[in-house]
Amino acid sequence: MTLRPGTELLTTERLVLRRMRSSDFGFFARIQADPEVALYIGHGRPRTVDESLLWLNATVSSYENLGLGQLAVARKSDGALLGRCGLSPLLIEIEAGARTAPRCWWSREEVPEDARVSFERELGWTFAREHWGHGYAGEAARSVLAYAREVLALPRIVSVVQRENVRSHRVAARLGGVPDTAVELMGKIMDLYEWPGRVAET
Ligand SMILES: CC(C)(COP(=O)(O)OP(=O)(O)OC[C@H]1O[C@@H](n2cnc3c(N)ncnc32)[C@H](O)[C@@H]1OP(=O)(O)O)[C@@H](O)C(=O)NCCC(=O)NCCS
Repeated sequence: MTLRPGTELLTTERLVLRRMRSSDFGFFARIQADPEVALYIGHGRPRTVDESLLWLNATVSSYENLGLGQLAVARKSDGALLGRCGLSPLLIEIEAGARTAPRCWWSREEVPEDARVSFERELGWTFAREHWGHGYAGEAARSVLAYAREVLALPRIVSVVQRENVRSHRVAARLGGVPDTAVELMGKIMDLYEWPGRVAET
């Protein structure tokens, strides 16, 4: 859910972040079919309608099943949907062995039997092309990061960014991230950012 039960919204100066619903499908199917938006997410190709449908269903299920998930990001002033931002599960190999970089996977089902993994929460962001360059991704990500630390009290939060994804590296850097580790995801070497979490006060 990323948001705790009973919490419906995160708000920032210009944005509202909320759980996705089925009526958001048209927007997300459109942006995920845009080659420029899709280039550095997952397999990198524009998503078909079926792929986006599976993705939205999995996202909504992850609210319940994993207590995590990507949130829809809308503009406060007019309610327009802009993109998504939130926490997704990521399993990272604890010992890379002879490999140059530890492998990671999005779900437990993908992890090979012989791999030992740590369960991490990955902070991600994706916005419609027409809404790039306004600081929306950074504003949304900053609020999810603060919520993850201060309310969810997660021990750490990570982000995985493809080497060529310059805009995404800039978002992570503006959040104070430093890419100090390489990981392998979907057969590609990527940069891992790590933000320390915080234990909630009792
Ligand atoms: C990654 C992505 C979200 C970054 O979008 P973005 O618009 O560059 O990032 P932000 O929303 O933080 O905006 C920052 C830019 O807005 C500008 N900006 C304008 N008004 C601003 C404001 N009020 N506040 C902050 N920044 C502002 C900043 O100067 C900055 O521009 P610069 O990077 O050219 O210096 C976007 O490129 C995207 O959706 N890509 C496709 C999906 C993807 O790759 N996701 C990430 C996978 S790891």
